Parts: sequence; C-alpha cells; structure tokens
Amino acid sequence: MKKIVVVGIGPGDEAYMTPAAREAIISSDVIIGYKTYIDLISHLITDKKVVDSGMKREIERCNLALDFAEEGAAVALVSSGDPGIYGMAGAMLEVKTQRDSKVEIEVIPGVTAVSAAAAVLGAPLMHDFAVISLSDLLTDWKVIKKRLQLAAEGDFVIALYNPKSKGRVTQIEEAREILLHYREKETPVGLVRNAKRAEEAAVVTTLKEMLQHPIDMLTVVIIGNSNTFVENGKIITPRGYQL
Ligand SMILES: C[S@@+](CC[C@H](N)C(=O)[O-])C[C@H]1O[C@@H](n2cnc3c(N)ncnc32)[C@H](O)[C@@H]1O
Repeated sequence: MKKIVVVGIGPGDEAYMTPAAREAIISSDVIIGYKTYIDLISHLITDKKVVDSGMKREIERCNLALDFAEEGAAVALVSSGDPGIYGMAGAMLEVKTQRDSKVEIEVIPGVTAVSAAAAVLGAPLMHDFAVISLSDLLTDWKVIKKRLQLAAEGDFVIALYNPKSKGRVTQIEEAREILLHYREKETPVGLVRNAKRAEEAAVVTTLKEMLQHPIDMLTVVIIGNSNTFVENGKIITPRGYQL
C-alpha cells in the first residue's frame, strides 16, 4: 500500500511552487485533480496515469485516490494554492476516515491565493486578517454574512475567496454593503485576478468603487482595515512601527 500526497501547487506559475510539491508530483505514479490544475502542471507529468475531472467532483477524486493507493500506486492529489485552504486536504482526510482506510496521507502546503495577491498589491496583510469565502454552495449564506459582519466589526483586513461566479453575483454586493456599515467609503481595496499566473491583473480601488471593476472566480479581493493606506500604487496596512 502506497501513500497519497495532497499537493498544493501554488497559485499557478511554477516559480511559486515549492520544491517539495514538485518532487511529490514527479515521484508519483498517478496524478488526480481538477482539469485546470492538471493543465498548469502538465509539463511535470511524463509517463504517469492522469485522472482529471470537473468541478464539484471532489469526493469522487478522493475515493479514486484511495482506490489507487490501496492497489499500491503512489498518488498525488493536486489542489491549487494550499490544499488546506478551501482545497482537497480536508475532504481527503474525511474520506479516509469514512472508509477506515490504512493509507497514509501527507499534506504538502502551497502558496495560497491571498499570499500571492497580497504580494502583488504591496503589503495589505501586515496586521490581523480574516479570510472568508463568499461561496454558499457548501456554507449557509447566513453564516457567511455573520462572519463578514464580525470580521468587519473587529477591524480585520478581509480577504474574500470565491467572490463571484456567473451564477452567483449578489454576494459580493451584499458583502460590500455589510462592510460599508463599519468602514469608510475610501477604504483601500485590492482586486487581483490570476495572481502569479501569466494573465495576472491587479486593481487598487476603494470600497466605494470596487464593483466598477471586473471580479470573478479567478479573483481575490482584499479589503483594508481602518489604518490601511495607498502609497505609490501599493496597499500598505501598517504594523505599528514608529518610523
Ligand atoms: C476553491 S478556492 C481555492 C483556494 C486555493 N486552495 C488556495 O489556497 O489558493 C478558489 C478561489 O481561490 C481564489 N484563487 C485561487 N487562485 C487564485 C489566483 N491565482 N489569483 C487570484 N485568486 C485565486 C479565487 O478567489 C478562487 O475563486
């Protein structure tokens, strides 16, 4: 019986993939993942079995990974960014428990989207921050709204994953409304699409104007706290140093 590595491949560009992730992919017999992510690492895959599948097939992928590992294959289950942040690590461990499998599972961390996006914008995460997914596919919207309210009230910098999709357009509008109860209209907001990928695009805007710019499922939104400012096009959240 071999093990399964749940590999975080980082945001996209191979320069931001860890050597451990690269090694895990190269030394696996079977690679399983969402098609878009498999495509991002296709140059690393030679003479391996590749199982790519579509969105919303996460549990199926985990069960397949266990089947292959129980038959003796070294399996890499790939996830974008960090597999422990809205990625495959949790589902893989839950499926292993449910099947009472003895297969060993190792999680290899990766650069998550918010780290990649923050680096593009400057230094917006220099103080306490909260990461909130606006996807209500698996989480009740009421719960998400409550978290937005409390993070806003607590003056956390807030990073939004899954901000908007073709079928889910109102959540980002509601999130902005909630934030406007607690923050100034001019609070800096950074939008980064495809961070650390070839098509990277970043916008520095404000809470007031953020919806005038494109936001989609390839975007991370970072909203500053009450001390965040913009200098020379870069967003900075002060840590509190006396300069
Ligand atoms: C299901 S989550 C997966 C997050 C991933 N596990 C991570 O750690 O980055 C998908 C969301 O992550 C964000 N995302 C992932 N990669 C990104 C990138 N390169 N640039 C901007 N946002 C990204 C988007 O908000 C997207 O809707």
